[in-house]
Amino acid sequence: MKAPKNKRILSGVQPTGILHVGNYFGAIRQHIELQETNEGYYFVANYHAMTTISDPRILEENSLRVALDYLALGFDPEKAALFMQSDVPEVTELAWMLSTVTPMGLLERSHAYKDKLARGITANHGLFAYPVLMAADILIYDSDYVPVGKDQKQHLEMTRDMAEKFNLVYGEVLKIPREYILPSVAVVPGIDGQKMSKSYDNTIEIFGSYKALKKKIMSIITDSTPLEAPKDPDKSVIVDLYKLFAAPAEVAAMRENYLAGGYGYGHAKKALLEAMWSYFEPHRQRREALENNLDHVREVLRQGALRAREKATVVMERVRDAAGLVRCR
Ligand code: ADP
Ligand code: TRP
Repeated sequence: MKAPKNKRILSGVQPTGILHVGNYFGAIRQHIELQETNEGYYFVANYHAMTTISDPRILEENSLRVALDYLALGFDPEKAALFMQSDVPEVTELAWMLSTVTPMGLLERSHAYKDKLARGITANHGLFAYPVLMAADILIYDSDYVPVGKDQKQHLEMTRDMAEKFNLVYGEVLKIPREYILPSVAVVPGIDGQKMSKSYDNTIEIFGSYKALKKKIMSIITDSTPLEAPKDPDKSVIVDLYKLFAAPAEVAAMRENYLAGGYGYGHAKKALLEAMWSYFEPHRQRREALENNLDHVREVLRQGALRAREKATVVMERVRDAAGLVRCR
């Protein structure tokens, strides 16, 4: 599918962990690109994160960190709104209203919910109702497109179902949004060769220290082919990661070195380390500047919330009127 243009797009990021290279190439980079040609709303899903984080300090710290990371990686608050989900508390009201038209069976079929149960996580109502809040996030801004990874496809289908159900009961009140599944360059592998994911503890952080990055890269699992022997560049996590950070000529040179032999995995890891470190250098500098100016970051988030709330207010008036909620204030 072609990337949306001149549309209202909305997406949320859960502040549940430290953003990693897989998140960058699989989502963040595309989110930032979409701001150029669309009206963008992006929020830090801190209400959602409460289903997994109960330490207030950690929730606050992680939430601000996601905002800092997005801004450092090129998110431009002049072009799109960045805000905290909880700064538009009306979403919880819409979530309640949607829940009154959402069949239990729809929520019971959620893959994300079933996966969590299978992993032994004790279910609470928040976890069960997660897709309803997510639907409210999307519908409250009359969003046209929701750019998300494949893993969120079902949540988007559920959102459309809820909106259609609501409209069936109350008339054409909610705008039916469309999904835009982000075309990831590829699934980014983690240091053990599986998909990079915080659940597998195999991630490489975007903004770790040089020392931490070196440690991670040096611990990439390799086979025991001796240094002198030729190696297969098509079966190497190091080469796969290098492709993301190095210029095509540099990748070609590494491939030749692999095939020629006399080039160890240690050499390749060093090249990867340097390529990755310099790739994120400008972002790192921007991040440091932002970290030293958290007041500015909070102001950006405040402005983003104002813009978002303005849209949300219009939709909520429509929804309340349609549902017959008497207004006496
Ligand atoms: P994690 O797997 O670490 O829990 P999330 O599920 O929070 O990551 O992913 C957030 C976004 O980043 C999603 O859009 C997802 O598709 C993308 N993403 C995560 N890991 C990768 C990866 N290894 N390769 C490509 N995209 C990824
Ligand atoms: N569920 C999404 C995730 O885990 C985060 C999210 C919450 C979201 N609300 C949203 C994404 C609304 C898009 C639109 O990644």
